[in-house]
Amino acid sequence: MLGLMICLVAFAHSPRAEAEIYIVADGNGLGRLFDGIGGMSAGATSKLLVNYPDTQRREILDYLFKPNFGASLQILKVEIGGDGQSTDGTESSHMHSPEDENYRRGYEWWLMVEAKKRNPAIKIYALPWAFPGWLNKEGQRNPYTYANVTAGYVIKWIQGAQTHYGISVDYVGIWNEKVYDRNYVITLRRELDCAGLHHVLVVAPDAPLINDWKICPDILKDPELAKAVNIVGCHYPGTLTTTAAIETGKRLWASEDYSTFNDLSGGGCWARILNQNYVNGNITATIAWNLIASYYDTLPYTREGLMTAETPWSGHYVVESPIWMTAHTTQFTETGWSYLCHGYGSGHLAGGGSYVSLTSPDRNQLTIVLETMSHDHSQCIRPPLPEYNVTKQDVIMQLKGNFANISSLQVWRSTLRFGNASSEFFQNRGEIKVVDGQVKLKLDVDEVVTLTSVTTGNKGSHPDPPPDTEFPLPYKEDFENYVEDMEPYNFAQQTGVFEVHADGNHGNVMRQMVLQIPIYWCSAEKLNLAITMIGSETWSDIAIIVDARLPSNTSAAEGYFLAARVNQGGCWVYQSRGVFMFVDPVREMFAVYGSIDKTVFLAEGSTGAMASHGWNTLSLSLKSTWANGSVNGRMLFNVTVPEETSNGFVGLGTTSWGYADFDNIYIDNPGSHL
Ligand SMILES: *[C@@H]1O[C@H](CO)[C@@H](O)[C@H](O)[C@H]1NC(C)=O
Ligand SMILES: *[C@@H]1O[C@H](CO)[C@@H](O)[C@H](O)[C@H]1NC(C)=O
Ligand SMILES: *[C@@H]1O[C@H](CO)[C@@H](O)[C@H](O)[C@H]1NC(C)=O
Ligand SMILES: *[C@@H]1O[C@H](CO)[C@@H](O)[C@H](O)[C@H]1NC(C)=O
Ligand SMILES: *[C@@H]1O[C@H](CO)[C@@H](O)[C@H](O)[C@H]1NC(C)=O
Ligand SMILES: *[C@@H]1O[C@H](CO)[C@@H](O)[C@H](O)[C@H]1NC(C)=O
Ligand SMILES: *[C@@H]1O[C@H](CO)[C@@H](O)[C@H](O)[C@H]1NC(C)=O
Ligand SMILES: *[C@@H]1O[C@H](CO)[C@@H](O)[C@H](O)[C@H]1NC(C)=O
Repeated sequence: MLGLMICLVAFAHSPRAEAEIYIVADGNGLGRLFDGIGGMSAGATSKLLVNYPDTQRREILDYLFKPNFGASLQILKVEIGGDGQSTDGTESSHMHSPEDENYRRGYEWWLMVEAKKRNPAIKIYALPWAFPGWLNKEGQRNPYTYANVTAGYVIKWIQGAQTHYGISVDYVGIWNEKVYDRNYVITLRRELDCAGLHHVLVVAPDAPLINDWKICPDILKDPELAKAVNIVGCHYPGTLTTTAAIETGKRLWASEDYSTFNDLSGGGCWARILNQNYVNGNITATIAWNLIASYYDTLPYTREGLMTAETPWSGHYVVESPIWMTAHTTQFTETGWSYLCHGYGSGHLAGGGSYVSLTSPDRNQLTIVLETMSHDHSQCIRPPLPEYNVTKQDVIMQLKGNFANISSLQVWRSTLRFGNASSEFFQNRGEIKVVDGQVKLKLDVDEVVTLTSVTTGNKGSHPDPPPDTEFPLPYKEDFENYVEDMEPYNFAQQTGVFEVHADGNHGNVMRQMVLQIPIYWCSAEKLNLAITMIGSETWSDIAIIVDARLPSNTSAAEGYFLAARVNQGGCWVYQSRGVFMFVDPVREMFAVYGSIDKTVFLAEGSTGAMASHGWNTLSLSLKSTWANGSVNGRMLFNVTVPEETSNGFVGLGTTSWGYADFDNIYIDNPGSHL
């Protein structure tokens, strides 16, 4: 690989003329290998995608993965679920306990299959956020203590993908945005090799801090670590890298980037970093968190996906601008192509903006992507973007070497308009003649232009999806239409894991499955309870009825709860306000709080007779400032709720780690039925 990176020192640009001339040539060697552009399904960001109506679901997957259609993504990075909150929800582990192994949970398997179905060449990259608690050593809260056991756990997931879905995993990471552990990295590489998984490359460290390439100095002085790390992945590098990173000779990736609200500025951010990660940082893969915003709108990091699909009950979705910004590169390149060297096809434009050129291994194909995103229209969520100016400019691309004989190129253009004029995305502007090896272009501010010899580009489209609608009420769920182990639709688990299980004569139930605190990724789990949420953040007057049961064994939870107006999710779920009705069926007690952490007391008392390990019916009803609740039809309280408790999701869960079953959920406006 080093052999390919023999770019000679770039010469200075010719003096500023009317139109600036940029050389595109391979005579001085090629730049780095291009590893692709990807999206991440992680942090429960695909939660609501899986239950879209079949037609719209297929359409959405086409926009993301189908070659020559939309984003045509080249890498899919997924979370290895760890039973813990990972930003917008919890993703289930394939091993809740050491004895457990299950490859049917959650939606990542399904998503990988759908991506591969559309594009068999797409690369798969897997990374854990949380880990199930059994991998922890008392008091340590990290997965590194038993390095070989944790490596074995990760390898089981990789083997499961192969065995159950025929998916070959290409890359695996360490522990998302946590410190890496040298021994674990080396152990993981060794155990992968022992398992015959030589082709699975280790990406490290998916570093926690902006512009943190800190593993690189470590790699330089530690040959054993250097051998174990195949690729260095940094998050939100701000298009920059370090000298040490270059010196490692490793491939450098923005293994998580973007994370910006997906309006036109989000599109601008994405277009700018896709080019400039290479131009400024020698970075050869850029992966967006997240792939698709398919989580409830008010969960953290609203709409920070390449497109939006957050109301499955309506079928509505939006193909946002980042999809087309991606297409400008992905539709005209393949992983394994090479960038051209800085100064010979890649660099900054004199009037602001940047350009990169890529060529196929046989050098028969050439793709040049130019972007002129202005500062204010291309800021990403992080890091801060220093001021710069962009002006209209004329450019001349001068093709040399293997490209000198190209007689014409296809032109694809996007123009992002921030006033009242309408934007244009990924328009085919036909062919442009190359005259004397030169292509002349006029570039406006906030444009992306692709010049390419590839003729298969296509702006795919499906019919307009149905209009957006509110979450439907009344809502009924008895879990009978699910296959075992599935995660119920629309229930967004925030801590703990809720799965459908068959329960003899009773039929299917929804069961909380996490028995001990996971090795958590963020502080959501610190209350030691499991909660799943459903509905809409706008719900204010609302009533819920649920059947709940504790199993009669020592792994049962201590009790369960029902909640309304739950106003926070994600890592911040532990500070949620709302009305929380906690019930202990064994001691036949209840307590009502205005906060999930039980700091705002509202009421408590005896429930009257309950089935300690049988089914009980709970209900909670809120109207304006009043809340009442009952167990088995007996009203227990009727209280005023605190003023700040005004609206939010319906929630339910267990009051401790442990099993509990839920069934026959009914949600409606108060008074209409209840
Ligand atoms: C992990 O390593 C320990 C100590 O070296 C060993 O006792 C144990 O059997 C290993 N476990 C696995 C799963 O390889
Ligand atoms: C890294 O990028 C710089 C420009 O920022 C360029 O001059 C250099 O050749 C690149 N090095 C490698 C090894 O890609
Ligand atoms: C951008 O242009 C404005 C107006 O001409 C000027 O004041 C400012 O200094 C420029 N900023 C940079 C970073 O060049
Ligand atoms: C360009 O075309 C000419 C004439 O067909 C040929 O002699 C020359 O080798 C070609 N150059 C390249 C770089 O392909
Ligand atoms: C957009 O149109 C509205 C209504 O015609 C007008 O008031 C506003 O000034 C326009 N904005 C820009 C940026 O042109
Ligand atoms: C305890 O109950 C749960 C839920 O019904 C069940 O899955 C589990 O197997 C039981 N455990 C034992 C040890 O019986
Ligand atoms: C709940 O309290 C309010 C205010 O005191 C009262 O109007 C209402 O009748 C009460 N409901 C019940 C069922 O007691
Ligand atoms: C509980 O409150 C709801 C909403 O105010 C009301 O419709 C319902 O009648 C109340 N239930 C009881 C038993 O008071």
